[in-house]
Amino acid sequence: MDRREFIKNGCAACLSATVISTLMPGCAATRYVSGTLTQDGITVKKDDFKIKQKGGTARSSFIIVRNEALQYPICVYRFSEEEYSALWMRCTHQGTELQASGDLLQCSAHGSEFNNKGQVKSGPADINLRTFPVIINQDEIFIDLRKKS
Ligand code: FES
Repeated sequence: MDRREFIKNGCAACLSATVISTLMPGCAATRYVSGTLTQDGITVKKDDFKIKQKGGTARSSFIIVRNEALQYPICVYRFSEEEYSALWMRCTHQGTELQASGDLLQCSAHGSEFNNKGQVKSGPADINLRTFPVIINQDEIFIDLRKKS
């Protein structure tokens, strides 16, 4: 490969990486945390939603709490500084673990989709996701695992 070909191929690869990262901002923003497990629930920090970007800090619309004590992860959506939802990422159709894609949770098994409040948007699932009550403190979000909300 000569120099000209190397530069041409390098530029094409660079351009592809830029286009992919522009088209898939949700992938870059997906954040996994383990949280702090207590007897009654799990606590995450509001700062877990922070994303450092050029020129400042942005907030992710969701984070995924993945803790070995949990059978499935919990997706926590942020609507504002004081409003969050916590969704059990278990498909209500046949129990497949869901994938977060922006404001939707999608099931790879048969295609069910749920919105960021856990409501069914498309089947075959016909039952909303299990959700947990959240208690918002100054810096933290407590997810109460004792009961469904
Ligand atoms: S298990 Fe999720 S749609 Fe069937």
